[in-house]
Amino acid sequence: MDLVKFYRLLKKVILRGKGKKEKNSFKGKITNIPEHVAIIMDGNGRWAKAQGKPRIYGHSHGVDRIRPIIEVATRIGIKCISFYAFSKENWNRPKGEVDFLMKLLENYLNNEQETFLNSRSLLKVIGDISMLSEDIQCKIRTFEELLKEKIKEPKIMVNLAVSYGGKDEIVRSVNKCISREIEKKDKNIFITEDMIEANLDNPWYPKIDLMIRTSGEERISNFMLWQLAYSELYFSEVLWPDFSEEDFIKAIEIYSRRNRRFGTL
Ligand code: FPP
Repeated sequence: MDLVKFYRLLKKVILRGKGKKEKNSFKGKITNIPEHVAIIMDGNGRWAKAQGKPRIYGHSHGVDRIRPIIEVATRIGIKCISFYAFSKENWNRPKGEVDFLMKLLENYLNNEQETFLNSRSLLKVIGDISMLSEDIQCKIRTFEELLKEKIKEPKIMVNLAVSYGGKDEIVRSVNKCISREIEKKDKNIFITEDMIEANLDNPWYPKIDLMIRTSGEERISNFMLWQLAYSELYFSEVLWPDFSEEDFIKAIEIYSRRNRRFGTL
């Protein structure tokens, strides 16, 4: 089965679980639950600096916030959550910091399999992973495949953006579309929005309902540009390593009171 068909099927399975009777302490409190939330986890460096520690100390604490946020997102009934872990631009940071972030990623892949399995969460790493070491690429594939194979009724899909750039993802998608059109030997190559969407790194949930950025910065920073076209944006002053489940719930509550019009009246 090709990737696009697989993700379409997966979406059906996850959405089938929507509204199923499960212990949901948020019922009634949050009326309008976003299906896909994306997070720019910003402020690790400043958090570390405030404590007189090196930047990498902030990243170590930052990675520990991912699991509880996935847990609360699942309890709320969110179907997809995306985290910006490492941008294409981040390759330009000092080598020591880049190496440390790669080590964190490797440890994450080594240590989180049980958690993903037990919580019936799927993982998809999005971004130009060809820039990662062969070893990490292999760990990513193994992790993703294991979850796909073992989890029959997933509750949530987690996108982890690594070596990721929003413009880069769109360009790679367009190039995939063109290659496929050329294969068909059709003289008139005509690319549509649907085709671009179907060739994004994870075509499973292409639209983001809510994007959260921590640390008080109010920018998109080349994150999931296609998917953010009609998203609600929420900026929190809290630095990522301090971003709590309560902070996340507050963002969802604020989102649920927003009036989305998608360009209509
Ligand atoms: C932005 O803070 C954060 C990053 C560039 C990296 C985010 C990474 C993590 C939370 C951990 C990595 C996760 C995995 C799974 C490997 P910053 O460094 O730009 O902070 P600053 O704006 O305060 O300097």
